[in-house]
Amino acid sequence: MKLHVNLFLWTFIVNTNCCAAIYWLGLTVNGSSVGWNQTHHCKLLDGLAPDQLQLCRRNLELMHSVVHAAKLTKNTCQKTFGDMRWNCSSVEKAPRFTPDLAKGTRESAFVFSLAAAIVSHSIARACSSGELPSCSCAPAPAEQAGPDFRWGGCGDNLHYGLQMGSAFSDAPMRNSRSGSQAFRLMHLHNNAVGRQALIDALETKCKCHGVSGSCSVKTCWKGLHDINHIATDLKTKYLSATKVIHRHVGTRKQLVPKELDVRPVRESELVYLVSSSDYCTPNDKYGSLGTQDRQCNKTSSESGSCNLMCCGRGYNAYTERIVERCQCKYHWCCYVTCKRRDVAWYEFLPTNVKQHHIHVTVLLDNVSTD
Ligand SMILES: *[C@@H]1O[C@H](CO)[C@@H](O)[C@H](O)[C@H]1NC(C)=O
Ligand SMILES: *[C@@H]1O[C@H](CO)[C@@H](O)[C@H](O)[C@H]1NC(C)=O
Ligand SMILES: *[C@@H]1O[C@H](CO)[C@@H](O)[C@H](O)[C@H]1NC(C)=O
Ligand SMILES: *[C@@H]1O[C@H](CO)[C@@H](O)[C@H](O)[C@H]1NC(C)=O
Repeated sequence: MKLHVNLFLWTFIVNTNCCAAIYWLGLTVNGSSVGWNQTHHCKLLDGLAPDQLQLCRRNLELMHSVVHAAKLTKNTCQKTFGDMRWNCSSVEKAPRFTPDLAKGTRESAFVFSLAAAIVSHSIARACSSGELPSCSCAPAPAEQAGPDFRWGGCGDNLHYGLQMGSAFSDAPMRNSRSGSQAFRLMHLHNNAVGRQALIDALETKCKCHGVSGSCSVKTCWKGLHDINHIATDLKTKYLSATKVIHRHVGTRKQLVPKELDVRPVRESELVYLVSSSDYCTPNDKYGSLGTQDRQCNKTSSESGSCNLMCCGRGYNAYTERIVERCQCKYHWCCYVTCKRRDVAWYEFLPTNVKQHHIHVTVLLDNVSTD
């Protein structure tokens, strides 16, 4: 009996610590309902790991940015993976996680890196939009301004974003209670990859001045690309992520690529420890929901294609015609006439296993109506 209880506890702890660092994605649930102006708010919600509580108490003003980042991470992940078999719907369960995110998979590598990039992005932007008392616009870049512009405007404060964002994202992994060393190294590495993608997304933005848009004077600053750009970059890294193992290299244990190419892990690559399911069929053990009922695209040969989405199970079709009103005219007095046109033919292909596919043809023959 005692053994049974211990086993239960052990499983519980492993499960709850797997993802301590991204519990905060759960702040989307009611993070906006709190004022974040009293330290006890930090403990009120089910979302912060113990090591993040202190950061929260000391930097309450950052918490609005963190809650914003949590929402953005969920939405962006689902948008970026909308046409993939694994479509990131399991982030909705945060702060509870299913094995697809809890087991050191390629998918968890993506989510950790995205979350780390977004929390820093969100803080850097909050600085430049004047929402935070502790920071403001970035100082003018060290590099020389060009012959046709001068530095000005208000740059996103990437430096402060990275500093506070990494303190927040990495805090739980500095604690040996939050999972095995291999897991912690993996998550720390992937967080850093996410922040590097953010650093790479800093670009020079300019505004023209001068007589009637002549652009004789230009002011430029360093601003961050939007999140979708960063997410696309990280998705590419997800697709080419490297499986690693934790083993001795000299005297220290490190993560090294599992395949026999003897090289250290690169700073630009996402890494994972555990292979994933193919996500074709439902399987609780892997956190796979399967692709039944998902829509697919017959004309595409990429990720959303029926071939990949339906895992070779086949599909049937049905067609749907969508008609829209257009060229509406107002007549004195008082009625409106419109024409109608077909905006699209959707051809769905539901099968015995209910896979769908869409084929869109835009038809512009306008049908007059009254
Ligand atoms: C905290 O913020 C809420 C709403 O944002 C406000 O109603 C409340 O008075 C504030 N409390 C303190 C102690 O500042
Ligand atoms: C994601 O996939 C699951 C499982 O197939 C499905 O239930 C869900 O509707 C999908 N979500 C989106 C946004 O497509
Ligand atoms: C289907 O794929 C084709 C080719 O990639 C693309 O042009 C089209 O927009 C896609 N249709 C939908 C509904 O996503
Ligand atoms: C239908 O209307 C659109 C503008 O709404 C026009 O561009 C198109 O040429 C029209 N098509 C036909 C067949 O009249």
